[in-house]
Amino acid sequence: MSFKEGFFWGGATAANQCEGAWNVDGRGPAMTDVTTGGSVKESRMITYIDKDGKPGKAGRGMKIPEGVKYAVLDTELYPNHDGIDFYHYYKEDIALFAEMGFKMFRMSISWSRLYPRGDEEIPNEKGIEFYRNVFKECQKHNIEPLVTIWHFDTPLYLEENYGGWTNRKLIEFYERFARTCFKEYKGLVKYWLTFNEINNTVMFLEMFGNKATDEMYKDGYQILHNQLVASARAVQAGHEIDSENMIGCMICGITFYPGTCDPKDILLNRHTWEKGIFYCGDVQCKGKYGTYAKRLWAEHNVKLDITEQDLIDLKNGTVDMYSFSYYMSNNVTTHDTKDMVGGNFSAGARNEYLTYSDWGWALDPDGLQYYLEMIYDRYEKPLLVVENGLGAFDTVEVDGSIHDPYRIDYYREHIKAMEKAVNNGVDLIAYTTWGCIDLVSAGTGEMRKRYGFIYVDKHDDGTGTMARSRKDSFYWYKKVIGSNGADLE
Ligand code: BG6
Repeated sequence: MSFKEGFFWGGATAANQCEGAWNVDGRGPAMTDVTTGGSVKESRMITYIDKDGKPGKAGRGMKIPEGVKYAVLDTELYPNHDGIDFYHYYKEDIALFAEMGFKMFRMSISWSRLYPRGDEEIPNEKGIEFYRNVFKECQKHNIEPLVTIWHFDTPLYLEENYGGWTNRKLIEFYERFARTCFKEYKGLVKYWLTFNEINNTVMFLEMFGNKATDEMYKDGYQILHNQLVASARAVQAGHEIDSENMIGCMICGITFYPGTCDPKDILLNRHTWEKGIFYCGDVQCKGKYGTYAKRLWAEHNVKLDITEQDLIDLKNGTVDMYSFSYYMSNNVTTHDTKDMVGGNFSAGARNEYLTYSDWGWALDPDGLQYYLEMIYDRYEKPLLVVENGLGAFDTVEVDGSIHDPYRIDYYREHIKAMEKAVNNGVDLIAYTTWGCIDLVSAGTGEMRKRYGFIYVDKHDDGTGTMARSRKDSFYWYKKVIGSNGADLE
């Protein structure tokens, strides 16, 4: 028995990928609401109209033309608009989580449900009430909520009118939003995460062989700085409002390996860890930028706008715990390689020792053990694996059953890897699997990339009854939780 008594077994979701009800009860739009569906091969598109009312689309991550306005077009499908309608199904869904024995449920709060534009002084009561009801439902089932304050969904109004996170004003707006969450849900929520996968902004600038300009790096690092300060201010506010609060960072955890033993690859690998993984974690856990940050900025002629107060805030706003997502490892090399693998956000050189998912993600449980041990040694803070899972095609049999042994195998190996890390001294307190219920993929916008223990009858063409059903993995995970991780068969 390696997992400690009271270990938080559970699952994770994000508001924009599951709630739906995108324009219900006063909610304002977010970027995902003007983002179409896509696939591994076809990027999701951001839609807009120009000043003559002509519709247009830009690939995600690309700049939209000057002077256009984000818009929902009649000709397109927007999977996040309906999600899996958690907004109306939350009671049923939480009851299913309870049936599996969940101890923790990770979810996020949609900023634009609380503040439809993002810059208002007064929050939307209907939004406040919705989350209060969700948390009460969790409480009824003895499930501890783990709440992500920002999961990729800045209100669209802030993107359009303030230029998004490059603008320091957003620090203030985010702090107001976070304070509202801490105050309103005091007593109902104790575990919080400030920003989901905060490190993505810079880490993925050059994925897929893209070349990023110095200008893009300048924006990327400034966005990160503004978010790191916003996070630090939220941590201070959260502690001030309730000293019981446990507040964490959330890093997109990828285990990077050198592609060869060429010392140049070894060095590149170290620098990739610094730029991709340690950069944000160091600030959030240690309260200051790592010694290598100056080198990273200099590489792209970046001069950051950092105030004296920012440095004080970063110092005073360190997190209580470190959480991360883990799906894959990546190989980095200075050598030319044609054999690249690609998922949605991430890519790397193919690793001949590993196999890959249908979406091109390396399946590597050892990489999870490596990450846990490396990070625990660096920060010595409680760790939480708050996303891990397999996006796969599922088939519904004629009798309605869904056999997903591939998902069970995936989880079994990753849980074994966590167990080894725990036995090696890592203080791991939670495991919330990603997409414990099928939901819209963040990267591709697909429904057919399914992660859940619970199947949702919703499809990429927008059809489906939204009915929920249990997959084989549902019963398996229930057994795992019931035995505190001892029974993995
Ligand atoms: C993480 C995100 O990047 O990976 C989630 O925090 C996302 O929002 C998850 O859904 C899996 O990625 P995808 O693209 O398969 O949905």
